[in-house]
Amino acid sequence: MFITLEGPEGSGKSTQLRQLTKRLLALGYPVVSTREPGGTPIGDQIRQVLMSLENKELHPRTEILLFLAARAQLVEQVIKPALRDGKIVLCDRYGDSTIAYQGYGHGLDLDQLRQMLNFATDHLKPDLTILMDLDVKTGLRRKKVEDEWNRLDAYEVAFHERVREGYHELARAEPERWRIVDAAQGIDTVQEELFQLILNALENNK
Ligand code: TYD
Repeated sequence: MFITLEGPEGSGKSTQLRQLTKRLLALGYPVVSTREPGGTPIGDQIRQVLMSLENKELHPRTEILLFLAARAQLVEQVIKPALRDGKIVLCDRYGDSTIAYQGYGHGLDLDQLRQMLNFATDHLKPDLTILMDLDVKTGLRRKKVEDEWNRLDAYEVAFHERVREGYHELARAEPERWRIVDAAQGIDTVQEELFQLILNALENNK
């Protein structure tokens, strides 16, 4: 079973995913967890190019191709082999991040992006996607120290609002795949909700 976690900046995905992985492993579930962009040696090199603040001239089209290149490698090298072995794959971000950020956030053509995504992932879609939903300003504030927060411009906030609304549209379009968790709750409450959602999905998948 292939499960992805999605959400805006500061929603706590990575911390929650680490905890979920530990707990599921302790119950004897064969779990492989990974993250995007990255998750493979080649993907991690691509991640460095994407995340380097020095790469100011990175064009939005180049950026998409790099996200997709890292994902193609992750699908072939990690996700597909794990699923073939009957494992549970938990992934911190996946294709929906591209639709939410590059599509809804940066305004690139959604149909074209979907086609490119299908090419990169060889049409592999998650069985379950959990949106860790969070108010944009809370998320950005969690991520930044206070004086950086003061320099956040309106553009940045508006961009993340579009990303969040994009996630909600995706969830509305495919309600059978998506579940939404309120990430503004305490870390332990969020963990319990995520854990129960995943256990239910694993039970139903038997
Ligand atoms: P990361 O440091 O992993 O942040 P987070 O903890 O929020 O996941 O950085 C990932 C960043 O890349 C995040 O801002 C979302 C963005 N992103 C895209 O724009 N498109 C994508 O396809 C992916 C996978 C990530």
